Amino acid sequence: MVKHMKNIVVLTGAGVSAESGIKTFRDAGGLWEGHDIMEVASPVGWHKNKNLVLDFYNKRRRQLLEVSPNLAHRALVELEKHFNVAVITQNVDDLHERAGSSNVVHLHGELFKVRSTGNPTLIYTHRKDLNIGDVCEENSQLRPHIVWFGEAVPMLDKAIEITEKADILIIIGTSMQVYPAAILINYAKSGIPVYFVDPKPAIHEKSFLNLTIYPENASTGVAKVVNELIEK
Ligand SMILES: NC(=O)c1ccc[n+]([C@@H]2O[C@H](COP(=O)([O-])OP(=O)(O)OC[C@H]3O[C@@H](n4cnc5c(N)ncnc54)[C@H](O)[C@@H]3O)[C@@H](O)[C@H]2O)c1
Repeated sequence: MVKHMKNIVVLTGAGVSAESGIKTFRDAGGLWEGHDIMEVASPVGWHKNKNLVLDFYNKRRRQLLEVSPNLAHRALVELEKHFNVAVITQNVDDLHERAGSSNVVHLHGELFKVRSTGNPTLIYTHRKDLNIGDVCEENSQLRPHIVWFGEAVPMLDKAIEITEKADILIIIGTSMQVYPAAILINYAKSGIPVYFVDPKPAIHEKSFLNLTIYPENASTGVAKVVNELIEK
């Protein structure tokens, strides 16, 4: 007999990739790798200094080629044997996919993709540096396929739809300060089990009827949550 599998939705932030060697954002005092985020991750920053923005993402892309998924990314893959799992990530890295997660939604875009500034439907896989003069097939400059501050979040509706269907929610390594990602949890059904793994948890007991907090690093905390759910 095939048992109906419950839906698990996993919301991840920069903290899930911290132990792979990619710095989080808030932990660096609101700077992203030493940069004011409005200079490197906003349309205003792009218009002001395209070279700076391209250089910033070129460095992030090179770094991503050198790091690997950690135990937390890997433990989440185990859940797929027992549950329908959807990962909704704020991260622009591809470490969930490389670990083997099969259903990943990127709310804020992807480092290994670029798109046309003239025609946003032209999106390309791109793992190398991106420079001024690199153009799409319609001859427009290419830009990183990243949702910058102040831009619309095209995957938000899909993420809301997925979150509404969750039977269990797992939240990992996010300061819950970036909107609209932070409001996603409001779409979860009331009373479902919620697990939150973060050494500095930004969610407290009162936030949910059924919340378990693991105030620790993702590598150990996620393994505990996964074991608990598989053994239940
Ligand atoms: N890996 C990436 O793709 C990456 C890295 C940095 C920033 N960003 C972008 O910056 C924004 C930052 O928002 P955010 O809430 O995701 O991150 P954030 O930097 O605002 O918060 C990071 C959270 O991770 C926690 N954390 C630190 N080390 C951890 C560990 N070992 N295990 C578990 N948790 C740990 C911190 O306590 C904090 O709550 C996002 O929009 C994201 O797109 C992405």
